[in-house]
Amino acid sequence: MMMMMHRFRVRPHKMTRVNSRWWRCMKTDARPSPMPKHYKRPPPKHVPTAKWSTRFVAIDALVATTMTTQQERRVVDVGCDHAWLSIGLVSCGTARSAIAIDVNEKPLEGARNNKRKHADELPIEFRLGSGLEPVACADECNVAIFAGFGISAMTAALEQATFKPKNIVLNPPAKHAPQARRWLVDNGYAIVGEACVVEGGVVNVVEAATFVGVNDDRCTSTNYDDILLGPLLRRETASSGIHFDAFQALLAARLRGVDDAIRRIPGRGVDDANANANDDDDVESLVGTMDRSRDHTRRRQKSHAELLRERRSLLAHL
Ligand SMILES: C[S@@+](CC[C@H](N)C(=O)[O-])C[C@H]1O[C@@H](n2cnc3c(N)ncnc32)[C@H](O)[C@@H]1O
Repeated sequence: MMMMMHRFRVRPHKMTRVNSRWWRCMKTDARPSPMPKHYKRPPPKHVPTAKWSTRFVAIDALVATTMTTQQERRVVDVGCDHAWLSIGLVSCGTARSAIAIDVNEKPLEGARNNKRKHADELPIEFRLGSGLEPVACADECNVAIFAGFGISAMTAALEQATFKPKNIVLNPPAKHAPQARRWLVDNGYAIVGEACVVEGGVVNVVEAATFVGVNDDRCTSTNYDDILLGPLLRRETASSGIHFDAFQALLAARLRGVDDAIRRIPGRGVDDANANANDDDDVESLVGTMDRSRDHTRRRQKSHAELLRERRSLLAHL
């Protein structure tokens, strides 16, 4: 355990203002994830190599997982920013066409320039708007991708949409992954793929899900460890699967966050013999209560017992 902690030592918080909110607690010294063998294929020819990140490779693989041959392979990239993801997905054939959406005009301008310069002939449309608002109907969207912003904005966008996307790929900050999983299973989506990759000193988690209906067995599980760690990731990485190193880095980073939170509780510690251990697998305590009254998710502080419960699960997988 100590060896693991040393190997995946988490950096002190030396973060830029831009990423500090999103990626807090998920900084790591773990080496960047090697490209998993089954991801290996040439980088998309319309995206400069430096812009096609390991995170995008993982998203590409999971978008492919959700696609069936009958589908027209139309993707919607919500929060596209520079649109390298959309350009890459269409360029390498994972998607036949893409609608790239951003709520701000400025990123869309950059995205249009990138397409004009690198991928003028590709079927990528740009639309200004929030979430899935600019998409008329489900036929335009075989897979909805939300990458690079907070889970509460993602789930708010999904709840406000006029249709339910058949497939969803989510890449929120890694510390929001439990909320992402919980939202998916609560809303009738079965998790069909997960990835965990380290890039630029940050751990990333990607979740892919398909709508099966709320009464389907595949999305009724609210097993504590599945929501905390990922139903597929935690099983796959138990036997050093392709995401093993990144997953261990994620656990170490999360454990550090939990230990910090415990230390902030006056008079409490991680080996508090008098702790009132919380042994019930209360997933609600893990994801917190959603409160969107101020347009963002506010969670109550976790109790000492809840933090110890989470700590036990993390240690069991480290
Ligand atoms: C950090 S960038 C992520 C870019 C890209 N998806 C990636 O993963 O690298 C986040 C982008 O999401 C956009 N955004 C945030 N909330 C949004 C929403 N509700 N609807 C559409 N775009 C949104 C922001 O304007 C910004 O350009």
